[in-house]
Amino acid sequence: MVASFTAAQIPSPPEPQSQQQQQPPPQNLQILPKDTTREQLLQTMQAFTQALGVQCSYCHVQEGGGGRTDMASDEKRTKLAARQMIVLARDINQKLPAAVNKPAEEATRVSCATCHRGVPIPRALADILTDTEKDEGIDAAIAQYWDLRKNFFGRAAYDFGEPSLIAAATRLTSDKPDAALKLLEINAQFYPNSSRSYAAMSQAHMKKNDKEQAIKDLEKAAALDPQNAGLKRQLDQLKGPTGE
Ligand code: HEC
Ligand code: HEC
Repeated sequence: MVASFTAAQIPSPPEPQSQQQQQPPPQNLQILPKDTTREQLLQTMQAFTQALGVQCSYCHVQEGGGGRTDMASDEKRTKLAARQMIVLARDINQKLPAAVNKPAEEATRVSCATCHRGVPIPRALADILTDTEKDEGIDAAIAQYWDLRKNFFGRAAYDFGEPSLIAAATRLTSDKPDAALKLLEINAQFYPNSSRSYAAMSQAHMKKNDKEQAIKDLEKAAALDPQNAGLKRQLDQLKGPTGE
């Protein structure tokens, strides 16, 4: 008691003025609380850069090398988008507990990283590849696949699992079966036991009126997934009535 009484007697020194001058408070916070400390702000900002896989200059005027730095400026479109994203994430977090009927403290909290996963525009791999195919052709889409795989494999940004190329190929099958087959061959390379890849190849070969190869694909698919009655049925249908 004595010690704390003594301590209370000592007047705390006034905040050194120079430190406040070095670190002026943020001037242009419109969404984050105005009393956010520099330290909290920096943590939030670092979380943004990590979630989106970008630098501060993606959203801020920060030219470096003697250029202009103005973190308060709103001239970048991306900063304005980020503001709306903060609002969006808050809104989701407000509605999510009711949607899953859980108490707020048990519901998952959505953050920038939940959606962005290390990229500024989070999109499914199959969507990216089918758009590129549409605009620039299948070879460009395949080059993009290898490029993304090289840069992002093992990170959470894109799903390089079995379904992505099957999804992209399935969308191409009816109009561009050759393009679909190219994607499925890559998938079979990474997932040699992917029954679904061979079943999808069978569809593409059917589109090309190559019934013989379609049967071979389906036989392979059925062999890889012997429990799958649907595949057996399809195979029987393709082979036609027995005894012919
Ligand atoms: C994805 C976009 C984005 C990235 C990346 C980003 N910021 Fe920000 N930053 C914002 C937004 C949006 C605000 C304004 C928030 C508001 O209005 O409440 C802001 C505000 C600030 C402010 C306050 C400026 C003022 O005076 O009002 C500082 C300082 C700042 N950011 C620093 C950084 C630093 C340092 C980095 C890199 C580590 C960074 N930011 C990365 C979007 C971003
Ligand atoms: C519910 C999912 C979701 C959440 C949460 C989310 N974003 Fe986004 N964000 C997106 C999607 C999807 C896009 C791409 C929209 C488009 O351009 O088609 C996007 C776009 C952006 C962009 C524009 C990128 C560009 O170059 O056009 C910025 C900046 C951004 N988000 C920042 C953030 C920040 C910062 C957070 C966290 C506060 C956040 N986002 C949270 C889904 C989300």
